[in-house]
Amino acid sequence: MDHFLYKNGMLHAEDVPLSEIAAAVGTPFYVYSTATLTRHFQVFDDALAGMPHLICYAMKANSNMAVLRVMAKLGAGMDVVSIGEYRRARAAGVPGEKIVFSGVGKTADEMEYALTHGIRQFNVESEPELERLSAVASRLGLEAPITVRVNPDVDAKTHAKIATGKKENKFGIPISRAREVYARAAALPGIKVVGVDVHIGSQLTQLEPFEQAFRMVRTLTEELRADGHEIIRLDLGGGLGIPYVNSNEAPPLPFDYGQVIQRTVGDLGCEIEIEPGRLIAGNAGLLVADTIYVKEGEGRTFLILDAAMNDLIRPAMYDAWHDIIPVKEPAPATEPVTYDIVGPVCESGDTFAKGRMMAPVAEGELVAFRSAGAYGAVMASEYNSRPLIPEVLVHGDQFAVVRARPTFDEMLNRDTIPEWLAEE
Ligand code: LLP
Repeated sequence: MDHFLYKNGMLHAEDVPLSEIAAAVGTPFYVYSTATLTRHFQVFDDALAGMPHLICYAMKANSNMAVLRVMAKLGAGMDVVSIGEYRRARAAGVPGEKIVFSGVGKTADEMEYALTHGIRQFNVESEPELERLSAVASRLGLEAPITVRVNPDVDAKTHAKIATGKKENKFGIPISRAREVYARAAALPGIKVVGVDVHIGSQLTQLEPFEQAFRMVRTLTEELRADGHEIIRLDLGGGLGIPYVNSNEAPPLPFDYGQVIQRTVGDLGCEIEIEPGRLIAGNAGLLVADTIYVKEGEGRTFLILDAAMNDLIRPAMYDAWHDIIPVKEPAPATEPVTYDIVGPVCESGDTFAKGRMMAPVAEGELVAFRSAGAYGAVMASEYNSRPLIPEVLVHGDQFAVVRARPTFDEMLNRDTIPEWLAEE
């Protein structure tokens, strides 16, 4: 359940009609619901009840400072993948000891920043990274807490671009070589082994791949302990999928995911960390757009919106489905029509949906893309010199612009013309 419902004939975000936000900030815009974000966090927290745990929100899904603050106030930790994300997390009030640092390409500068400002652990993804971290920590006279991210070669059964746990993917260390790498880690100065990390992919709609991977982590944990390592934490990554298509898709519930964790690794006495991103933010956000034209093409009707692929890249990049619904509630028994729903960008790939059946929409009417809270705004660009669109956070009957639309001057002034090109 989310908090985007029709009330009095109009789609609302919690208690705020979307038309009111559109009038205040213009279109297109993203809107997030505090109540939904909170609920999703709590559902995970409940699912892990009974096990010591920390939910490290994967902020790559949505790193707006206000969203991070909502998470921080709930006690969430963060999974960061760059020093930019680390700085956002800290600025939003998340302490260093709740931040885990993932990613295959951490630089020495990033390591140094995180080490000196406080970090829970580095999830190390390669041997060269381990050596570099050891060198940086030793130089600083500090000790870097680490897990090694293992690659279990498990098929996550998701879109190829977001599967990360197969041997052909760039992520982690083959689980078969893990013991060797832990032995090396234990011998290196400035490194303190604290746990094991795994993340096999995103938008998983079945529990079985998780179960397979977690069982392998269990076996490895037992072996590592036998080798003399102190394994006190297991970071089990993120990846639980969400329903994108309203009715005919039912990914597993966080509760059942929690049960899988419980039965595979729950008795090891480890603190459990998970890194959910999409499930927290995805269905907590909408993208709202205006209809510029309804254009009759050859055998098809194009709905031309003022949002485009630069605002929401997921359909173009992953052939992703987002439900698109009118903001004004259609009258009961309205006959659906079929549209190709597109944006104004000059590429055929700027298509959100082809042959989509939905209630009719007229020029000047608003539509909302569902499930746009994760990997929406964060993946936006200014392609075609379209300014980044604003983000709005709703809380009950209040709303606030949490990222303003830049002015054209701001956008243009980021570039500079070198002197030698200056006009005579
Ligand atoms: N932990 C790590 C190490 C990850 O790489 C990711 C996502 C997560 C956690 C969070 O996964 P989630 O719970 O959100 O599934 N842009 C793509 C998704 C990319 C996911 C990348 N890694 C999309 O729009 O579908």
